[in-house]
Amino acid sequence: MFTIRIGKKRIKLLNWLIFISCCLLIIYVLGSLFFLLPIFKKTYNYEIKKENYEIKKEIIFKNFWYKCSVKEIYGVKVDEEISEYFEKDLIKDGFVKEKNKYVKTSESLGFCKKIKNEYKKEFDKDYIIFDLKGDKNISIDYDQGFIDPYVDFKINKKYSNEILVNTNLNNKKIGRYIISYETGNLKYNKQRLYRIIDVVDREKPVITLNGNEEQVLEYNSNYVEEGFVAIDNYDGDITKNVTVNNQINSNKPGIYYITYKVKDSSDNTTTIKRKVIIKEKSSKVTKEEPIIEQKDGLTYVNGILLVNKKYGLPKDYDPNVNKEALSALKQMQADASAIGLDLSLISGYRSYSRQEQIYNNYVKEDGKEKANTYSAKPGYSEHQTGLAFDVGQLKNSFKNTPSGKWLAQNAHLYGFIIRYPEGKSSITGYIYEPWHIRYLGIEIATKVKESNLSLEEYLGIN
Ligand code: DAL
Ligand code: ZN
Repeated sequence: MFTIRIGKKRIKLLNWLIFISCCLLIIYVLGSLFFLLPIFKKTYNYEIKKENYEIKKEIIFKNFWYKCSVKEIYGVKVDEEISEYFEKDLIKDGFVKEKNKYVKTSESLGFCKKIKNEYKKEFDKDYIIFDLKGDKNISIDYDQGFIDPYVDFKINKKYSNEILVNTNLNNKKIGRYIISYETGNLKYNKQRLYRIIDVVDREKPVITLNGNEEQVLEYNSNYVEEGFVAIDNYDGDITKNVTVNNQINSNKPGIYYITYKVKDSSDNTTTIKRKVIIKEKSSKVTKEEPIIEQKDGLTYVNGILLVNKKYGLPKDYDPNVNKEALSALKQMQADASAIGLDLSLISGYRSYSRQEQIYNNYVKEDGKEKANTYSAKPGYSEHQTGLAFDVGQLKNSFKNTPSGKWLAQNAHLYGFIIRYPEGKSSITGYIYEPWHIRYLGIEIATKVKESNLSLEEYLGIN
């Protein structure tokens, strides 16, 4: 046997070998145990799932307690149709799109500051409550107020409870808008909720008829449409979109309904009706026939110059304004003005060619059929006689103004009549024109007014 001398001791080499082997074995066993330790790793998972977002946490404790990895996954769910609105913000915050949601993962590895039980305690509390109050999708009426039902938000950490609200809501414009709520300063788990607001128009348009809603027509007489106006709360004036259904047959006595229908841009539809009664054919009551005279192309009925759709004027009839009528007009305007009313002259004498211009313009604007209800063809306008004037305002609503009412009540005292009265369109051939006056002289104008008849009826030629 070999022996080694250390100091005075001699140790046998074999013993040494045994000793070293034992040491290596111990080192090997301990080392193995050390590397085997990760088999003791523990994982703890935590998850919150809400309609709009989810949080998953995974803590892996390695090597007993002192090394761990913390993995956090945040998911925000956003409806496809409005995801565009959020995308930029989410991507800026490190989220990545994954199917129908945006996801962010953060992972850290290090020594665990807390022990497993502490994490467990923390996770076992529902430590974030963040929910919408009220419905996720709310419809409000155009131009109506809106009170945001807001959100529920509670958190058991010492963050501020501030919520950032962001919206493009504009209740003056129909459309879809979004309100987003964001938990402001939660650094890692900033959450978002959103609400969809639809601004809608549910109000129907309103159609207002000019003239009477119920009209009684003589057998075989022409129905003249006095017009209408359609106003919508959102689209404004939509008169152009009104469709009119008129099935009147004036040769067949009975009750007819003309329907007026209009739709606004949100498909709200309004339909109204005008009742038209066609009278039975009557055996004419014998009465004194009017005396109709023609002189130089002008028509006089019982001595009164008559111009209407049937009786016209020569093209070269050019009398200019009638002096007597003009001075009566001035007197009436002065008296009205003294009590604060306005009967300003809008149109007076018009030559044949001037009427031609006016009429052609209206035809261009509204088409012939409509223009014929309010504008005379050249050679058929009373304005060419120099005895007619348009005063005040050329609007149906003039009849309701103090000036319009005064004119209707007092025009005869100055020798004028309202030539195209309300409800007489089928006789005069024109819509109600509360602004158009015709000079007849005080005596006849007063008789016409008191008769409540149109000039044609008064003269017995309707
Ligand atoms: N507005 C009337 C009918 C005219 O044009 O004479
Ligand atoms: Zn006129």
